[in-house]
Amino acid sequence: MEDRWYTASAPGKFVILGEHAVVYGKPALVLAVDRRMTCSVRFGPRNTINGERVDLEKQPHLKYLTRNIDHCVEFLTRSRIPVGSGMGSSAALSAAAAMALRALQSIGYEEKDIVDDAYGAELYAQGSGSPMDASACVHGKGITVNVPDTDRPLWTISRGERTWNVSDIDVPDMTFVIGNTGIKAPTGPQVDKVRRFITKNHFAADIMDEIESTTLEGYDAIRRNNVEHLGRLMTSNHKLLSILGVSCKELNKLVNAALPFSYGAKLTGSGGGGCMVALTDDPQKVCETIKSHGGTPYIVQTGVQGARLENGDNEDPVVDIIP
Ligand code: PMV
Repeated sequence: MEDRWYTASAPGKFVILGEHAVVYGKPALVLAVDRRMTCSVRFGPRNTINGERVDLEKQPHLKYLTRNIDHCVEFLTRSRIPVGSGMGSSAALSAAAAMALRALQSIGYEEKDIVDDAYGAELYAQGSGSPMDASACVHGKGITVNVPDTDRPLWTISRGERTWNVSDIDVPDMTFVIGNTGIKAPTGPQVDKVRRFITKNHFAADIMDEIESTTLEGYDAIRRNNVEHLGRLMTSNHKLLSILGVSCKELNKLVNAALPFSYGAKLTGSGGGGCMVALTDDPQKVCETIKSHGGTPYIVQTGVQGARLENGDNEDPVVDIIP
């Protein structure tokens, strides 16, 4: 039995525009960031995570990804992506684990294969959602989802009546600061909340349409490098997400604190806690104000590589600490 470690990593992400509406097939713009999830795997006598014996029933992403493997698997993980915070930690784990497991089994790991695995794991664990996070964490750099007439298509994923067309975009040369409220808010309940909102409110379709037009305008602003306009659109998107009910007072506090020093700011990801993102040319000032309002700031680098093998032939696994 193969007992060598295989290691892969995948980046976290933030959403410039379009989360939640993307679940309903609307467009979204996403950038990968320089905070990565790393996962090492090898066959072993029992299933373990970071040396602790584990019941995979309680780890649905990993259970899904190992469903066709006859052996037990040992996992080591290390992450700089805050968990349950809108930065794609579960998609990055799914992408890194999927790639490492494919390498362990000597099966192909084209980007699309890993996206299918990672999105499958997300759906298995969460029950609903779009392939946006999985696509961003696998591809890295920047992606659009369901933006028409893009010139670098990557893949199309369909589920039920929904179809998502994912494309590569040039990463804008702009500075983004993330502010973490420190409140963990898993994605599934937030997606369910929006579904209930849509069922109950006749004007919900208008909000979705407004998010769509905001996102398409944002795509245009990025291509023209129009940072002022993109910032305004981000703030409008935050307002629309607040109407959907997925902001919270801590997110609003950080968004409000960042706005005087930013072109725009909004929550990122599923909301209810987690992170916001500000577009700024004064990142130090935004960091200070996020800190003084109780958040944890991260100045993120964009334009980073997607899922990659770290040491396919190396017997030394990564050091295994989840912060
Ligand atoms: O909070 P995150 O990082 O899991 O992002 C969720 C993004 C949503 O649009 C809210 C859900 C989805 O599946 O697209």
